[in-house]
This record gives sequence, C-alpha cells and structure tokens, in this order.
Amino acid sequence: MPAYISSVGHYVPPEVFDNKYFEDKIDTSDEWIRERTGIIERRFATSGATSDLIVPAVQQCLEKRGITAEEIDLILVATITADNNFPSCAATVQRKIGAKNAWGYDISAACSGFMYALATATSMVNAGVVKKALVIGADKMSSILDFTDRNTCILFGDGAGCVLIEHTDDESIGIKDTILHMDGEGGKFLYQIAGGSSKPASLETVENREHFVYQDGKNVYKHAVVGMAEVAVRIMERNNISPSEIAYLVPHQANLRIIDATRQRMGIDYDKVMINIQKYGNTTAGTIPICLSEWYYDKKLKKGDKLILASFGAGFTWGSIYLIWGID
Ligand code: UT7
Repeated sequence: MPAYISSVGHYVPPEVFDNKYFEDKIDTSDEWIRERTGIIERRFATSGATSDLIVPAVQQCLEKRGITAEEIDLILVATITADNNFPSCAATVQRKIGAKNAWGYDISAACSGFMYALATATSMVNAGVVKKALVIGADKMSSILDFTDRNTCILFGDGAGCVLIEHTDDESIGIKDTILHMDGEGGKFLYQIAGGSSKPASLETVENREHFVYQDGKNVYKHAVVGMAEVAVRIMERNNISPSEIAYLVPHQANLRIIDATRQRMGIDYDKVMINIQKYGNTTAGTIPICLSEWYYDKKLKKGDKLILASFGAGFTWGSIYLIWGID
C-alpha cells in the first residue's frame, strides 16, 4: 500500500537576474556561465525570507488538492536557509499557512534535502503515522551568497517547491524505491564556515566573509558526476526498469554537465530529462520539486509515468528515488 504524490506546487520570486548582471560586478562573462553551468538566468528575492517563498507554493499545492491547511498532519521543510536557526522553518510555515493540526521539522541535507524529506514522509505515511504530509524543498540562496565570489554567486537562485504525500490503495502508482547516501568526508568541499556552534558569528567572521557559501567546485563536481549517475543507474537496475520505460529523469539542477553525464550513464534521451537550470540556476533543496510542479502544471506529466529522481549535494549527500506518477 504505497504512499504517492497527490499534489504539487512551486514558487519562484519575480525578480530575474541574467548572467550579464554579474559582468560589471565580478570577473565573469555570460559565455563562461552558460558553457560551464548551463545557467542563463536565476531569480533572487529582493525581500522576504524562505518561508515567504514556501507559502505560495503550498497554497498552490493545497488548492489543487482541494483541501485546507488544517487537514495537514506533517510539515517537513528541506532547507539550508531557514528564516532563523530556530525555531524551524516548518514551524514558521505552519503559522503562516494556518496548519494548526500539523507537527513537523526541518531537514538539513542541502541539495539532497528534498529527497531525504520525501523518503522520510513516505515512511511515515506507509507506517500510518500520518495521513497527509507536506514535503517542501526551498532555499533563499541569495541570503548566503557572497556576491564578490565568482566561484559561487553565479551558480545559485531562490525558489520553493512542495508535494503532498498521501496513502493510496492503487498499487500501480506511488513511491516505489529509495536509495540515499551520505559521506561526511565531503563536508569540507561545500559548506558555510561560520555561524554554527563550531565558529559562532563574530566581528571577525563577518569581516572574513565566512557566513557565505564556500565551495571547492572542482572537487564537488568530481564526486557529483560519479555519485549521481551511479545511484540513478543502480535504482534502475534493482527495479528492472529499462531506459525506454522511464518517462523522465528528474535531476538536481546544479550543472548541466552533471545532468548530462547522469543521463548518458542511464542511457536515456535528452528529451526525457527535466531541465530548468537555465531559468532558475541551483535552488538547492528547491530544484527537484520545482521541476515536478512545473512539468505537472505544463501538462507534461501523466498518471503512470515512471520517474527517477536523483540528487547530489553538500555533506556529501546523494540519492535516487523511483516513483510512478499518480495524478492527471
Ligand atoms: O548543488 C550542490 C552541488 N554542487 C555542484 O554540483 C557544483 C559542482 N561544480 C561545478 O558545477 C563546477 O565545478 C563549477 C561550475 C562550479 C566550476 O566549473 P569548472 O569547469 O569546474 O571550473 P573550474 O572550477 O575548474 O575553474 C576553471 C576556471 C578557473 O580559472 P583558472 O584557475 O583555470 O585560471 C576559475 O577561476 O574558471 C574560473 N572561474 C570562472 N571564470 C569566469 C570560476 N568561476 C568563474 C566565473 N567566471 N564565474
């Protein structure tokens, strides 16, 4: 008796920043960014917090399902840019949407956060612990970007996506398999140096610009390109799914070259890959649910479609989920 995605929603802020925006601020070019990453533009919210990106995404999701926020039992928010270190972003969202019967918490797994949260909610629905779980992936990356660091500031964007997870008696749909991994040895290649308990905020940490994203891009790339492809292929193999059976690969949107390497290893065609990195950049926990929601509302997803989700991110964290889409 599987859990399935019964509704979706997403929101990106209206403010568009193209690659040219960076050209007079740092030593970069539109051409370099397009060629090395696939990004053409991204959205940055010029006001508000991560919860303000989440609320419209949740409203779209609930409206589509025809339920009120009071019917939600569980709220999981995958994010690394919660409004505050505490209370959780989940608690803030609960207050803002009026989900007064829900409990919940945040999940910190960076770019794999949505995958971790989806796996967690699936287990809870399958176990009968909750009936309706909101799984949200959202980040306001502009709040932790160093706009003087060309290695990182051009890569990311702001956005939120969410799905509703419920039980179904229909065995032909739902979340079928999950493979998740973590390797803390990779932590040093992508992290926020200060602001946590290992290095609390001080005048010095601010002056040294240590509250921003730090990334050793080359090292992350090397691991991502192997990890994401390997786990996506493994989930196909252990579920006996051939490339031609897959309706879509839904990859984390960090770099078009990483996405393409994953697609090639899986043996699937380019038109079977959800790609929107050119419009939004890397929205961290937001990328996968934003893709699902965009493709759904664009009527490019239909009941029975077999999807492989795949991600790689800070931690390192990575994984893959196999599901059969259940809504028309
Ligand atoms: O979502 C979480 C997981 N994150 C990822 O998966 C990101 C993984 N990494 C990447 O996507 C890529 O490594 C980057 C896009 C970050 C960088 O691309 P790259 O092809 O690995 O470039 P690189 O780091 O090897 O740098 C090549 C050159 C360097 O110059 P030198 O040292 O060869 O003179 C960089 O300084 O490009 C330079 N560079 C830039 N040039 C123009 C780095 N950033 C820029 C820039 N504009 N924005």
